[in-house]
Parts: sequence; structure tokens; C-alpha cells
Amino acid sequence: MTAPKKTFFDFALLKRVFRYAAPYKQKFYISVMLAILLAIITPVRPMLVQLTVNEYIANEMAGMLVRITLIQIGLILVETVMRFFFSYITAVLGQSVVKDMRIATYKKIMHLNLSQFDKTPIGTLTTRTINDIESINDIFSDGLVPIIADLLSIACVLTYMFISDWQLTLIALIPFPIMIIGTYYFKESINRSFHKVRNAVAALNAFVQEHLSGMAVVQAFAAEDREMEKFKKINRDHRDANIKAIFAYSVFFPLVEIILALSIGLIVWWTSKEALQLQESQQGTVISFILCMNLLFRPLRMIADKFNVLQMGIIASERVFKVLDNPDFTPESPADAYKPALVKGKIEFDKVVFEYTPGVPVLKEVSFSVNPGETIAIVGRTGSGKTTIISLLNRLYHIQQGCIKIDGVDIEQYDLDTLRKNVGVVLQDVFLFSGSVMDNITLRNPEITKEKVEQAAKLIEMHDFIMRLPGGYDYHVMERGATLSLGQRQLLSFIRAMLYNPSILILDEATSSVDTESEQLIQHAIDTLIKGRTSIVIAHRLSTIRKAHKILVLDKGEVKEMGTHEELMRLNGHYAKLHEMQFETTEE
Ligand SMILES: Nc1ncnc2c1ncn2[C@@H]1O[C@H](COP(=O)(O)OP(=O)(O)OP(=O)(O)O)[C@@H](O)[C@H]1O
Ligand SMILES: [Mg+2]
Repeated sequence: MTAPKKTFFDFALLKRVFRYAAPYKQKFYISVMLAILLAIITPVRPMLVQLTVNEYIANEMAGMLVRITLIQIGLILVETVMRFFFSYITAVLGQSVVKDMRIATYKKIMHLNLSQFDKTPIGTLTTRTINDIESINDIFSDGLVPIIADLLSIACVLTYMFISDWQLTLIALIPFPIMIIGTYYFKESINRSFHKVRNAVAALNAFVQEHLSGMAVVQAFAAEDREMEKFKKINRDHRDANIKAIFAYSVFFPLVEIILALSIGLIVWWTSKEALQLQESQQGTVISFILCMNLLFRPLRMIADKFNVLQMGIIASERVFKVLDNPDFTPESPADAYKPALVKGKIEFDKVVFEYTPGVPVLKEVSFSVNPGETIAIVGRTGSGKTTIISLLNRLYHIQQGCIKIDGVDIEQYDLDTLRKNVGVVLQDVFLFSGSVMDNITLRNPEITKEKVEQAAKLIEMHDFIMRLPGGYDYHVMERGATLSLGQRQLLSFIRAMLYNPSILILDEATSSVDTESEQLIQHAIDTLIKGRTSIVIAHRLSTIRKAHKILVLDKGEVKEMGTHEELMRLNGHYAKLHEMQFETTEE
């Protein structure tokens, strides 16, 4: 058996994993108790065989033979039942820990600051919550606890052997160094292969996930063949890594058989060498030793495997803990956070500086203010920072300098829930979850009844549109809203915003051009939505822009101009140019 490497046996990590088992202490203790009991009864059967041969057969005690046979059968039954409970309880223990850890991890991920999602690929976070945590289960069901059980039973068998004949035991153990070396190489080899297999699986997952999402692009550009080649390559790597692991098994397991045979051969050789002076009592010992060798090799053969499982579990736990320890998350708002009963809706940006990536400012000292009930339109070229401005208002990101105030209070001081309930958003690209239209509007908030949804929908004249969908409010939206058009998706999110009746409305108009009928729907919905609320509208429609009380012209993160449509046209600066480029050719 190999001695575990220092780096591999990270006790601190293991201890932390076990802290998750604390609520299931009882199960853990029961499994350890079972492990001890199982270990103790392991050498009993060879012991009984020894007794039978040496005493009862030698002295021709037929009655005792029947009794011993019954005891042996009873032992096997007891052992089987205990083994069943042992596997069952360790598996339940592992699964319970997995359940708790998964909830903790997902909860953590839900509260991570959005900037973390810009930095971490989604696939990685998926792997953390699904695969890595599953490996932690194995620490309990296939790793540590079973290793403890195996080591204990090996110790018990060896003790029995040494007590009954230490010389013969030493002889039988002569081939063991080969076993140790073999196990070591085997462990290293499958470890390397499994590492490669895991990487290959991750690559396969990432490739398939990305390409299924982007299938439209692949097909539209007839890139199927090229992408297929790439897929084949990754698939080959996966196969090769697996074959290496299988090769290691195919060499190791027969090797163990050979060593076992060698040991048994040595036992037989040694006793037959002494056969001339062989006492009768040694016949039983020989037979029981042969049984013992089997009992020793069975767990030894698997122990390298189990150590790997344990190692993988520990590595996985390290990755999961990294997510859990991520300091970049939104903490729960303190109890004394600002929770106004009513938000009037005055918004002030004061010299706000913001950067997604350190050193690359996206907003440079942006200042503006909006009075309650007024609408400000933000216009600017693509990438000028419009969406960024509105992401800051409900604290999706944190600013580096300056100050954002609502009703004169810094938004950092607001209770986050209160803030977000009062700031309604309609995003540029609306994300829909797979589920019914209803679920997507309410986001499964049970406080929002169907009546309320319909009422809101009627207010912005969306009810008929939804009723025209097959199934109406029960229409099943596919993942990412793929079965709805961009405009339709945005219309749904209007209802979402309307329902919360927020004091402040943020609207990032979809850029796509829609048909006249939808255009009218959207126009009407927007008018209703912004009426009586403070609104920040990132506008692409001239009509929306014109209705705004104020227009803010953004260019490369800087406020260039501010004023009404007429004022800015008269200025004949940025806005006039933008207006000319965007609208003159297409509208009116
Ligand atoms: N999550 C992000 N991480 C890093 N950089 C980002 C991120 N989101 C946007 N940016 C960068 O910030 C700048 C402003 O982006 P923003 O989305 O605010 O532009 P926009 O004015 O809304 O453009 P559009 O009219 O195309 O919607 C861009 O240069 C963009 O590359
Ligand atoms: Mg944008």
C-alpha cells in the first residue's frame, strides 16, 4: 500500500468537508462502528476453519462439524447484512452532505457580484455545483470511510495470522514489496489517466454546450464539417485517456492475482518443507492462511482505487471551497439599512467613475439628475456605456468613484431588496427561462396572482397579444425564449416591470426593428410604463427620445451634451450628428 503524499492528504480540507457531515454525526458513527465490527469478524471465519481442521476433523468429532457449518453460515449472513448497512449508510451520508453543500454553493453563486460572472465561464460554475460536489460524495461512500474499514480488516487479519504462526506469516508476506510497488505505480498511472479523462470530459461538455447554443451560426455558415473535425479530436483525446486507464487496470489486476498465487505457493512450500516434522495442528493453519490471503488481497486490490477517489474528492472540495470563499459577493443588507416606505424617485449621478476591468474606465465622471416623474433618455453610439449606467442604479455593479443617490440617499445605504423593488428594469436582451409565460412574468413569486398579471397586461394592452399565443398565459417558452421574437420577449418583460409598479423605471430598448403592429404595441406599453414614474430610457426610437424631458448624450463614457431635443438640435453637436445618422434616413 502506498503512503499518501503530503500534498495529497490535506487534512484541513478534509476536516472542512467533514464539518458538513456534522448534522449527520449519528450516521457517521454508525458507519465507523460497522467498519470496526466488520473488521473484527473478518478473521473469525479462517479461525473457525483452523479450529475445525485441527480439532474436529483430527479428532473425528462429526457433531461439531455440523455445528461449525451452521455457525459459518450464520456468520456469512451477519456479515452480508452488516455490509449492506455499511454501504447504505455511507451512501446516505455522502448524499446528505452533497445536498447541503450544493445548496450552500448555489446560494453563494446566486449572491456573487455580477462581475464574477464576467470573469468565470458559466461552464465552470456548473461543474462546481454538479460534478465537483458529486466527487465529494465519493469521499464518504467510496473513499475515506471504506478505506478505514479496509485498513481495519487488514490489520485484524494480519494480527490473527501473526498470533497463530508468525514465521509462516512472514513467509507469506515475502511478495508484498512487489505488491506495494505495483500499487504505487498503478495509483499514479490511473491518477494521471483520470486527470486526463476529467479534462477531456470538461472539454467535451464545453464544446457541446457552446455549439448547441450557437448551432444557428454553425449551420448558417456551413461550418459543420470543420466543427465536426474539432469534435472528433476532443473525442479521440477522451478515448485515449480512458484506454490508458483501462490498460493500467488490465495490468494491475492480473499482477495482483500472480502475487496472491505466489504467496499461497510460498505458504504451501514452507509447510511442506517442514512436512516431515509437521504437526497435525499445522494443517488447519495452512488452510486458514490461504483463506486469509484472499481476505488480505481483496481490499488491497481496491485500495489504490479508493485512494484516488479520496484524492479526487479532496481536489474537488478545494475547488468548491474556492467558490464558497469568494469574497466578491453581495452581503445581506444590514438590519438598519435604509428602507423608505415610499421612494419618490429623484435620481442623482455625481461624477460617477466606473470600470469593469481595473484601469479601463467605462464611465468617466458621469453626472446628471432626474426629477421625480421625469423621463431622461440616454443616447449614444454602441459601446458608449448606456447599459452600464443603468446596471449601476440597482447595484448590479459597484462604482469606483463618485456617488449615486436616490431621493438624496446614497444607493449603497439602501436595503438591497427595497432598492431593487423600487427600480424596475426592462433589459435590452430579455432573458426568458424555460417555463410558462406566466412563470416568466411572475418569476414564480406566489404573491403575484393571475388576476394581477392579467390586469397589468391589459393596462399596457398586452393581454390580447398573450392570448393569441397557443395556450395563452400557459404558453411554454423554450430555453432562452428561443420561440419568441426579440420584440415579443421585451413585451413580456414590460408586464414583469409593470407588475412591480416601481417608482423608478429603467428601460433599455431593444434595437431590433419590429413590425408596425408590434411597434405600436411597444410604443403604447412604453408610454404607459413611464407615465408618472421617474424613468431612464435608453432609447433607439425617435418618438421615445422626443418625449423625454431631458436627453443625455453619451460618448465613450463621457456626458457630451444634455438638454431637450430642440435644444440639442440647435446646438448642432453630437446629438444632431447622431440624429442625422440614426434617423434621418429611416424615419419621417
Ligand atoms: N461585463 C462587462 N465586462 C467588461 N466590459 C464590459 C462589460 N459590459 C460592457 N463592457 C464594456 O463597457 C463598454 C460599455 O458597454 P455598454 O454595454 O454599457 O454599452 P452600450 O452603450 O449599452 O452599447 P449598446 O448600444 O451596444 O447597447 C463597452 O466598451 C463594453 O465593451
Ligand atoms: Mg446596451
